[in-house]
Amino acid sequence: MSIESEKDLLGLMRIGRIVGLCLQEMLQAVKPGTTTAELDAIGEQFLSGHGARSAPIITYNYPGWTCISINDEVAHGIPGSRVIQEGDLVNVDVSAELDGYFADTGASLPLPPIAPEVQMLCDCTQEALQAAIDAARAGARMNAIGAAVERVAKQRGVNVIRELNGHGVGRKLHEEPRNVFNYYTHRAKDRLVNGMVFTLEPFLTLGSGRIYTDKDGWTLKTQDRKLGCQYEHTIVVTEDAPILVTAV
Ligand code: CO
Ligand code: CO
Repeated sequence: MSIESEKDLLGLMRIGRIVGLCLQEMLQAVKPGTTTAELDAIGEQFLSGHGARSAPIITYNYPGWTCISINDEVAHGIPGSRVIQEGDLVNVDVSAELDGYFADTGASLPLPPIAPEVQMLCDCTQEALQAAIDAARAGARMNAIGAAVERVAKQRGVNVIRELNGHGVGRKLHEEPRNVFNYYTHRAKDRLVNGMVFTLEPFLTLGSGRIYTDKDGWTLKTQDRKLGCQYEHTIVVTEDAPILVTAV
């Protein structure tokens, strides 16, 4: 969506704060011995307690309030009986709707003992998100975002999962622009304009970056079973630093 009024901005900020706080509450509950269903229930309680609805449920009839993806699962992991283990890399992704506005956020959390390359992957992915934020200015080209993500990944010798990208959000979970690419492509040469709303969500991996959909029909996994990592914010483009709608 594009912000067209004060009401739009307030509505988007309201749901952005809710999903941001929900993500923090869920991340605090990530520990060995907890099931992903228990974690999802915390998300459900938080969102419904704030009058919000799960975006994946209302959009795709997804079988969970949130997405919880562990290790080689990179996205859309279905909450269930899986027990979180020591040393897991746990990604929680929360998107929800309130009063017709949608926001989307996510983060990866490594559990001790944390191998040095896992810490490096998380640091690098956060750095890539920050580089994407810095590149998202009115007047810049869309592909400056992907170029920035790629630059950070290359510096550390990790790969971009090219099939997973940011996206327009706001009035729906997924809308125009269809893809905010995490790599440079000359096709994405449109200029960013004030008020544009989309997600920034680099997905980086220690492996090749190829993924497939699990037989459950939802979970996206790396083909080589290497770890995937993602951090995500919903942003509003301005002439300065973007508004981070989901930062709390
Ligand atoms: Co998300
Ligand atoms: Co997203």
